[in-house]
Amino acid sequence: MRKKIIAGNWKMNKTPSETIGLINEIKEKNPAPDCDVVVCTPFVCLSNAVETAKGTNIKVGAQNLYFEDKGAYTGEVSADMLKDLGVEYVIIGHSERRQYFNETDITVNKKVIKALEKDLLPILCVGETLTDREQGVTDDVIRRQTKIAFLNVSKEDAKKVIIAYEPVWAIGTGKTATPEQANEVCAMIRDCIETLYDKDTADALRIQYGGSMNAGNAKELLSKPDIDGGLIGGAALKSDDFTTIIKSC
Ligand code: 13P
Repeated sequence: MRKKIIAGNWKMNKTPSETIGLINEIKEKNPAPDCDVVVCTPFVCLSNAVETAKGTNIKVGAQNLYFEDKGAYTGEVSADMLKDLGVEYVIIGHSERRQYFNETDITVNKKVIKALEKDLLPILCVGETLTDREQGVTDDVIRRQTKIAFLNVSKEDAKKVIIAYEPVWAIGTGKTATPEQANEVCAMIRDCIETLYDKDTADALRIQYGGSMNAGNAKELLSKPDIDGGLIGGAALKSDDFTTIIKSC
């Protein structure tokens, strides 16, 4: 059985001081669940997040990293910097980064490799646009994103990666993929991993769904066999909603 993993992607929301408040609220309402819980905050909030979450089952993640170790890369943040703060997870290749910050499948691959080398657990985002879906190329797009992201990643390391299937048309739109649609793509991603590695690796790797997941629809989505958790945007900013989703596991 794969342990479920619920991660909040706060995106560009909450200040460092607000971070303390929100994590304290989650701590109070946290039902000590049987699943992994992660909050991915903006870089400047990470230190407060790690401090506030200390001693609880809440782990902290970043929303990006750079693939070089150090040097003249103004504005970038390295894996070592994140590790030094006590960060354990990192979101890589979110569709907003692909869309607004020119992330490509190749940079995503470099970031996955760097995160694994430095013992950070990558939450790798893949997903099709509405046009992709309408043109019937969802599987092709997601298989391409997945295959390139895993280039030169060993079998042992591949198992540590968490893949988040996030249909771009469902992000922040209130439109959720149906549990059947979401499960179908997650199963396809698992098949892709089996083709790249083997069944053992595919069975071990966790695949989340993300895209307008909320307190009302989480239970049904999370009950599907190939959906091992959620990557939650808007609903992760409200402690009641986020902890309800955690309890849905
Ligand atoms: P929403 O839950 O706000 O749709 O965002 C999903 C997401 O992009 C998580 O990474």
